[in-house]
Amino acid sequence: MPAPEKLCSLRWSAQYDALEVIDQTLLPHSLCWLQLKSLESYCHAIRAMQVRGAPLIGITAAFGLAQALRQDPSMANLEHAGAALLATRPTAVNLRWALDKVTSAVSALEPGLRGEAALAKAQQLRDEDIAACASIGEHGLQLLSGLRRDGPLNIMTHCNAGWLATIEWGTALAPVYKAHAAGVPVHVWVSETRPRNQGMNLTAWELQRAGVPCTVVTDNSCGQLLRRSVVDCVIVGSDRTAANGDVCNKIGTYLKALAARANGVPFYAALPESTIDWHCASGDDIPIEERDEVEVLAVTGMDASGETRQVMLAGAGTRAHNPAFDVTPATLVTGLITEHGCFEPSPAGLADLKAQMSSSRPM
Ligand code: MRU
Repeated sequence: MPAPEKLCSLRWSAQYDALEVIDQTLLPHSLCWLQLKSLESYCHAIRAMQVRGAPLIGITAAFGLAQALRQDPSMANLEHAGAALLATRPTAVNLRWALDKVTSAVSALEPGLRGEAALAKAQQLRDEDIAACASIGEHGLQLLSGLRRDGPLNIMTHCNAGWLATIEWGTALAPVYKAHAAGVPVHVWVSETRPRNQGMNLTAWELQRAGVPCTVVTDNSCGQLLRRSVVDCVIVGSDRTAANGDVCNKIGTYLKALAARANGVPFYAALPESTIDWHCASGDDIPIEERDEVEVLAVTGMDASGETRQVMLAGAGTRAHNPAFDVTPATLVTGLITEHGCFEPSPAGLADLKAQMSSSRPM
């Protein structure tokens, strides 16, 4: 079979004056592109999780702000559009990071110059995200090479931190893709990631397209797999990492970290610098998104006739609590794999990372 076309999660269309994104709510059954043009369509796409994953949310919002400014470059609109985009989802700090980058690139400019400058900045952030993820992959590959055993390397991951969550490569999956490309045999245990099943619907789809062997397991199986020594390391992404190294990521990450520690399995978080919130002293300060209880009480999937349907699982009147993220204390994290290298998840390690960031900035 020919290799499937290489995709990335978004592209700017000058022809349609629109940002084109994959509607991730339809995967893995349909690969459909959406065109985002109005501020409302950008906000809806992020809120409804047609685009999701911390870096992708940030870059999409940057394009959304640019497009709003091309339509009305006034300071009032800069503030209005920035606030509307910022309010879409609370946990991933990349959203605020990207909006701040665009705002500071354009606010001192003449109004007539703001739209194009904002678009150029969004495109720059997109390109930088691709480079950062590729570099995370290289640093992660070095770590994986140190773990190499006789058989395939077994990596466990949670949620989706692949190219669908970024632009290309991904964060947690970047080392996997780099290892696969380098001929290192890998197999990925994909945790399904209830309630929205990003592992089963997105990560397994991505890995299968790339020809990387993977197996989906229920979230509840992961502890047992870690105990049975069939996992060489766990790699997850992050939506916000605090200045002390605490890692906030998809709900269920913390349980994997506990089980990994109890069984001596290394547990890494892979993240670009845009995911670090230097203003958050610890994970306790990170706002955790609460989502609709229907995500827990019902499932959506494709029926035998190919129709997408939502099916109620819970009995009438059942209530659910649905936090979308949790915090893994730094003490349970073996290392933070970033585009600048691998750092200890501690205030000292983060200080080293900050120093490395400043020394690698262009003069
Ligand atoms: O709710 P989601 O699907 O946006 O959550 C995504 C995650 O938790 C990812 O693991 C995280 O954003 C890291 S992505 C590179």
